[in-house]
Amino acid sequence: MNDQTPTSVERATKLKGLGHSRKRVEDVRFTQGKGNYVDDIKMPGMLFGDFVRSPYAHARIKSINIDAAMALPGVVAVLTAKDLEPLGLHWMPTLAGDKQMVLADGKVLFQGQEVAFVVADDRYINADAIDLVEVEYEELPVVTDPFKALEPDAPVLREDLAGQTSGAHGARKHHNHIFLWEVGDEAATDEVMADADVVAEETVYYHRTHPCPLETCGCVASMDKVNGKLTLWGTFQAPHVVRTVASLLSGIEEHNIRVVSPDIGGGFGNKVGVYPGYVCSIVASIVTGRPVKWIEDRMDNLMATAFARDYWMKGKISATKDGKITGLHCQVTADHGAFDACADPTKFPAGFMSICTGSYDIPVAYLGVDGVYTNKAPGGVSYRCSFRVTEAAYFIERMIEVLAIKLGMDAAELRAKNFIKKDQFPYQSALGWEYDSGDYHTAWEKALKAVDYDALRVEQAERVEAFKRGETRKLLGIGLSHFTEIVGAGPVKNCDILGMGMFDSCEIRIHPTGSAIARLGTISQGQGHATTFAQILASEIGISADSITIEEGDTDTAPYGLGTYGSRSTPVAGAAAAMAGRKIRAKAQMTAAYLLEVHDGDLEWDVDRFIVKGAPEQFKTMTEIAYASYNQAIPGLEPGLEAVSYYDPPNMTYPFGAYICVMEIDVDTGTHEVRRFYALDDCGTRINPMIIEGQVHGGATEAYAIAMGQELAYDEIGNVKTGTLMDFFLPTSWETPTYETDFTETPSPHHPIGAKGVGESPNVGGVPAFSNAVHDAFRPFGLKQSHMPHDQWRIWKIANDLGLHS
Ligand code: CDP
Repeated sequence: MNDQTPTSVERATKLKGLGHSRKRVEDVRFTQGKGNYVDDIKMPGMLFGDFVRSPYAHARIKSINIDAAMALPGVVAVLTAKDLEPLGLHWMPTLAGDKQMVLADGKVLFQGQEVAFVVADDRYINADAIDLVEVEYEELPVVTDPFKALEPDAPVLREDLAGQTSGAHGARKHHNHIFLWEVGDEAATDEVMADADVVAEETVYYHRTHPCPLETCGCVASMDKVNGKLTLWGTFQAPHVVRTVASLLSGIEEHNIRVVSPDIGGGFGNKVGVYPGYVCSIVASIVTGRPVKWIEDRMDNLMATAFARDYWMKGKISATKDGKITGLHCQVTADHGAFDACADPTKFPAGFMSICTGSYDIPVAYLGVDGVYTNKAPGGVSYRCSFRVTEAAYFIERMIEVLAIKLGMDAAELRAKNFIKKDQFPYQSALGWEYDSGDYHTAWEKALKAVDYDALRVEQAERVEAFKRGETRKLLGIGLSHFTEIVGAGPVKNCDILGMGMFDSCEIRIHPTGSAIARLGTISQGQGHATTFAQILASEIGISADSITIEEGDTDTAPYGLGTYGSRSTPVAGAAAAMAGRKIRAKAQMTAAYLLEVHDGDLEWDVDRFIVKGAPEQFKTMTEIAYASYNQAIPGLEPGLEAVSYYDPPNMTYPFGAYICVMEIDVDTGTHEVRRFYALDDCGTRINPMIIEGQVHGGATEAYAIAMGQELAYDEIGNVKTGTLMDFFLPTSWETPTYETDFTETPSPHHPIGAKGVGESPNVGGVPAFSNAVHDAFRPFGLKQSHMPHDQWRIWKIANDLGLHS
């Protein structure tokens, strides 16, 4: 080596691998309007499909007359359940083991339900034809409250299940009951509660909301009858699963189905499930022999596609007088809407709600979840959370606050007193999880110090006094949240979706000139996978991230994978990428040994090359090795340089974080101002700090929306009251607070590069931070619990109910 030879550090910097704030490669096309979304797909002879939807939340369908619609020029077909029935497609299985009407079969069960599918030459004709379909309804009594749904004389919603005393998840105790899922030891928990010094009780409601991605759901189905091939482009978060389901439903062999997810404008869980629009588009394309496009409008998306949350969580938490938590009891009433279409791993009908012991060392706990049918849209997706972790984190972070009030203790101190300690990891939780790693005290202390917590409490106390003296009408709230996430579903032995084990995959091909393409079973919806997965590989195989193309979403080319949701991409597919990279490196080592005429054990890896141990001037770079792999016969080795990994994670990863929100609240108007929002995240090894920061900003903004105003609200007869963006709160840059981000780094011990997920964390931790800030502002005046969203009216009402307006 001479002085000009770049050092290892210089070469590593050039790779733009792990830890590098590499700019998002996707943004070149996104910022120039060159993205390729489903609605950008235009095909010759393409037809458009759209739904006649029910205006009623519960009604019998007496008749459907399509004559006038069919007579409209440009209308090609109008499908109803009767047309789908001979194909066995008028109902379809849900991800949760239930079944769901594709088109209304005899009755409708929620407002916006799909009744008929109109297929026409363009969207305008569609809209006119929808008005011409005559549906005669007979209204039935509506239930939108899950507690009323369980009353003995409540109307029977699912007549198709009449007499069925058990469902996919065990016994049904009522005609509108879906399942009871229990975890933990209730008898032992009750015993601890009975003997406890202090027991705090509260009902915490996490309201129904909706992921509301900027791009709504849609697809284009194209049946090539000559070759027997079906191609389906769509907004799918799990394209391979869609292909398998499409094959099972349609009888078309899986190799004859190609599913493609092009660019996706946000998913957040909304695009995991299978919707009637997909089924109807496929059928319509088969029937007409022409491509059929279906794209929802905003109201369709909000009213009819998968909602999130809607959990009533009744909690009890017990502690000693000095604040050591001794037990936790949680009973959930879960409103699943008209069909149980929750997107959860099969064995977890309430997702990972059993992470509700949070960051705390709680010796004994019980969780029971009752799933209930109501006249609301089906769904129950993990809106930027890993399967109900948001509900779990909100529940425990509210219960901690309620306990702190009962104990008369500072809530930050109560948390620190009960955190799982660093030396307790791996930690076995009372509800069955093995937390892989964590260092909560360090993160918490860093967070409290960063915001100068003690000074904030002094300021808050002074503010209360000033308020009482009539010198101000503004209160100060300090919202604390310490969350533990659980992300990266699998392992396969525990987690499957419709029987498909939750592994993930990566396939790499190194080209002769030393650049590469890697394909994965996941699909980015804006998270920047093309940027970050190339970084993981760059560090593993010594090829610059700029020379690695990442491809996802085409089932004809990508290896089978379970898709992207619940922050599983980095923990599972990211691990597959690292493992496939290691296979490439292992073969490259043998090639290098041959080229350098040494034993492969005499070589060591140095950033982008193999060097001879003790003789670093003798080396072969990955570029040289790649070329040799294709142009030289190497004894004992196949030509080429490719690898594939199907990765079954041994455990999930457990990211965590400490969030603090400082909020000013105007008692008279109910308005608020987020003065400061500090977010410390620990997602293990950080692949791209800039992308992580972006994920935290986006997730915290969704958390802000949910906590402070976003809601899918229904009236008593099941009308969706927030079906447009006039009523459904989607914060713009005007409302969005400013965030300060920070981190600690506790690598996952089982992930090949120590990375944990991060995409969901800010939503999981953010909601309790915002909500606790509102509660905390009113704590000195006696507020214990108030339901989200904390919009202006509700905050005003808290103040009014506490007598602060008189
Ligand atoms: O599954 P999803 O992509 O939604 O979530 P994720 O695995 O948490 O990743 C979100 C984005 O953050 C991806 O681009 C990841 O590669 C990136 N990330 C990172 O840079 N470092 C981590 N430790 C975790 C995620």
